[in-house]
Amino acid sequence: MAMRFNDDFIDKLRDSNDIESVIGSYVELRRRGRTLTGLCPFHNEKTPSFTVYPETASYYCFGCGAGGEVINFIRNIENLDFIEAVKFLADRAGIKLPEDNFDDAASNLRRRIFEANRDAARFYHETLFTEQGKAQLDYLMRRNVSPKMIKHFGLGAAPDDWHALENHLKAKGFRRDELVAANLLRYSDKNGKRYYYDAFRSKVMYPVIDLRGNVVAFGGRVLDNSKPKYINTSDTPVYKKSNELFAMNFAKNGNDRKLILCEGYMDVIALHGAGFENAVAGLGTALTPEQVSLISRYADEVALCYDSDEAGQKAVRAALSLFSKTGVRVKVIRLEGGKDPDEIIRTHGKERFAKLLSNADNDTEYKLSVIRSKYDVETADGKVNFLREAAAFLATADSLERDVYAMRLSDELGVSKDAILQQIKGAAKRDYYRKSKNQFNEAQKKVAEMEKSVDPQRVKNMRAARAEDIVLVTLLNNAEFYKRFKDRLNNDIFITPVNKRIFSVLAARFESNESTDISHLSQSLTSEETGAVARLLAKHSMVSNTPKECEDCIIVLEEEKKKRETPSPSQMSDDSFLAFFSSLNKEDN
Ligand code: GTP
Ligand code: MN
Repeated sequence: MAMRFNDDFIDKLRDSNDIESVIGSYVELRRRGRTLTGLCPFHNEKTPSFTVYPETASYYCFGCGAGGEVINFIRNIENLDFIEAVKFLADRAGIKLPEDNFDDAASNLRRRIFEANRDAARFYHETLFTEQGKAQLDYLMRRNVSPKMIKHFGLGAAPDDWHALENHLKAKGFRRDELVAANLLRYSDKNGKRYYYDAFRSKVMYPVIDLRGNVVAFGGRVLDNSKPKYINTSDTPVYKKSNELFAMNFAKNGNDRKLILCEGYMDVIALHGAGFENAVAGLGTALTPEQVSLISRYADEVALCYDSDEAGQKAVRAALSLFSKTGVRVKVIRLEGGKDPDEIIRTHGKERFAKLLSNADNDTEYKLSVIRSKYDVETADGKVNFLREAAAFLATADSLERDVYAMRLSDELGVSKDAILQQIKGAAKRDYYRKSKNQFNEAQKKVAEMEKSVDPQRVKNMRAARAEDIVLVTLLNNAEFYKRFKDRLNNDIFITPVNKRIFSVLAARFESNESTDISHLSQSLTSEETGAVARLLAKHSMVSNTPKECEDCIIVLEEEKKKRETPSPSQMSDDSFLAFFSSLNKEDN
């Protein structure tokens, strides 16, 4: 990083952005003694493992390992870099940034991409109302998109021209490399020469806007039936399509915490035009866990509005499984009378869609209907088999739901409600035993896998890794321990790369008598490393903070270091083996 803010500024920033209220505006927090807990916004979970520690102004998630201080939180939740996150918090608290020039290459480029995208969106939108955008405007009119919606979504036209946007933006001072980084410009190399051209030509343009109102990407649709139908911005430094949802910038403002999730740009536009302003869509990829997380931040209920074809139904099943890991209720809209919402609204009007929406099955009903469709319930055999599978499925529902559906199935099939409830209970019991066995095995496997993927060194050296953690925690808590053990503490005794890094940043700060508060350390650390410091702080209660404890762990590290440096006897030359052998005997005497 090019520059560092001084500690006083960071203190001021931290103190005027109380971690509890900053995080509290994204996550519903519950107080539990000296800490607060909530559902982690960085992974999908149903039971809270995300913990905020007001005393150290840090947070840590025991489920996924996300952690840090208030700046790191904003960095990750708003998808910003360090300096942007500092600016964000400074704005939030109404503090002025220090005068220094803190231009950092990466955030500079991001800023330029945002600016280029905004100017491009304006250019496309204005072009729509000129001769060069006539075909595109006609196309939108033919599809019943009102002028109001064109304006609302900032729709536009990329002209039939290889250099229109390039010329326009170059005249505004943008460089080609910036436009390439924004994915607005592409190039091909031929005969040792590089040829640049506009990424979008002859397209209807749909700008994608993030939650803070920045234009981050574009979808461009062809005007005929040619393929591919859409060209979309690929990932850039300001855009990850797996993390965004089209129209979320509008939909998030609704106040009933309900969203409609559909497939295409056109569906969203038609729905908003018809007054369903809570419709969003993915951006040409299958629904991702990140998008599900995003939705769960803004909604308690989502209505899935996917095509009724095989592919659409497969997508519904995948979505149900992703949402089942969250607390979001899912309804599935059955699109009758059209292939997508756009068509239904165009041919039958918005009332029809409203009706489909209110008739939408919740996920339990939907799943039951999928199960039902596998059997011929007119026959006794089919009835029994359907009931058996339905019971196994309802075993996962709560008691109220079990009761409601047992009643309905009883009416439908002419079987007593009690018999059905009995069947469900039996399935639940079998389930319970099977699950608890599996859960235990899986939990063990998962922890091992997670630790391996995070830090292979850590798994190989569990004893040393634990000792490292304790040394670092006790140092963080007791600056005086550093002076006391300074001579024995150096980078070499740490094995895991993350801890090595944390130690060297800590040591430098101890040496110059600077604070080692996590919000000060975070400036010199990556987001992951800051998370690791938060993990250490979360372990506060596991250490007794005595010099003896710290020293014992240093001894472990010294021993482990010696072991690393001593080759195993099979790797030694004869001479060194003899020397090693006699040294062992000497130690014994
Ligand atoms: P219309 O055909 O104009 O009604 O568009 P639509 O928005 O309804 O698209 P459709 O339902 O066919 O596809 C759903 C979404 O998938 C689109 O909005 C795009 O995000 C994406 N998509 C569709 N076709 C393509 C393609 O050819 N390439 C890419 N990258 N994405 C596509
Ligand atoms: Mn469509």
